[in-house]
Amino acid sequence: MDIKTFGIIGAGQMGNGIAQVAAQIGGLHVIMNDIADQFVEKGLDTITKNLDRLVAKDKLTADQKTEILGRIKKSTNLEDMKDADFVVEAAVEREDLKLNIFRKLDEVCKPGLILATNTSSIPITKIAGATKRPELVIGMHFMNPVPVMKLVEIIRGLATSQETYNTTETLSKQFGKVPVECNDFPGFVANRILMPMINEAVYALFEGVGTPKAIDDIMMLGMNHPMGPLALADLIGLDTCYAIMDVLHNGFGDSKYRPCPLLKKYVDAGYLGRKTGRGFYDYSK
Ligand code: CAA
Repeated sequence: MDIKTFGIIGAGQMGNGIAQVAAQIGGLHVIMNDIADQFVEKGLDTITKNLDRLVAKDKLTADQKTEILGRIKKSTNLEDMKDADFVVEAAVEREDLKLNIFRKLDEVCKPGLILATNTSSIPITKIAGATKRPELVIGMHFMNPVPVMKLVEIIRGLATSQETYNTTETLSKQFGKVPVECNDFPGFVANRILMPMINEAVYALFEGVGTPKAIDDIMMLGMNHPMGPLALADLIGLDTCYAIMDVLHNGFGDSKYRPCPLLKKYVDAGYLGRKTGRGFYDYSK
């Protein structure tokens, strides 16, 4: 299929990042959808600030910035996806919500259109099962911050066709990313390895092994990680980290994946990381 218009569901930190690379690097028209105008506006604000930074660094001209923003259309109605040639869903990490979105997308989108999900852990096969086009459903998992990180983890569901895989791989490259393929297991590869490390860092904090700064410094200075696991959890969002640990725990039925009680407590308290101004660190100042 000739892809000219790209649909993105969710204008949050992953959704707006994906919209930015689709419009800026991919050169596509983008329909950016969320449930309320304020969320779409916030996503567009983030993209504008990111592009402003690139203009300030002479990596983009002011005209290019205007052109890129001109290619992004706002939407609060899923039916707008009828005009899209490829759709990626990047809504919050809740299975019931994603299944509903896919049911609706399946009704409104063109026949033959690929429906990809940016889920970080929910089985692709299950999401595909909510549609009448499981051969056209695939995982297209971007990393945060999307404009910077090179990887797209591509996950085939049980019924995903080779053609769907090929198109998704080609589009990832068009976005300047490096696609890597893996199979549909809880957490795929990225989060099966990353999240237990973050969860273990939360246990280390919970048990008083070190302060947040000490735990992060040890991993940065000792292991050359660009940021410590607790700072990374704050970047990803503690609600997302908790949701992924829950998927690993339930999916494998193995107690080694049990989410740390302190992680749950922070989520209950609304300490979700950078996005709420407080997580393992305080971002309010
Ligand atoms: N959006 C756009 N650009 C950004 C950005 C953002 N949110 N954050 C940083 N950048 C850009 C900066 O503008 C800068 O660009 P230039 O090189 O052109 O100047 C570059 O990235 C480096 O940024 P900084 O100098 O400010 O800071 P840094 O060198 O410490 O890098 C980082 C910041 C890229 C976030 C780095 O710390 C890093 O790689 N951290 C680890 C990120 C990671 O592990 N992500 C995966 C999370 S897991 C996930 O996403 C999957 C999931 O399902 C949970």
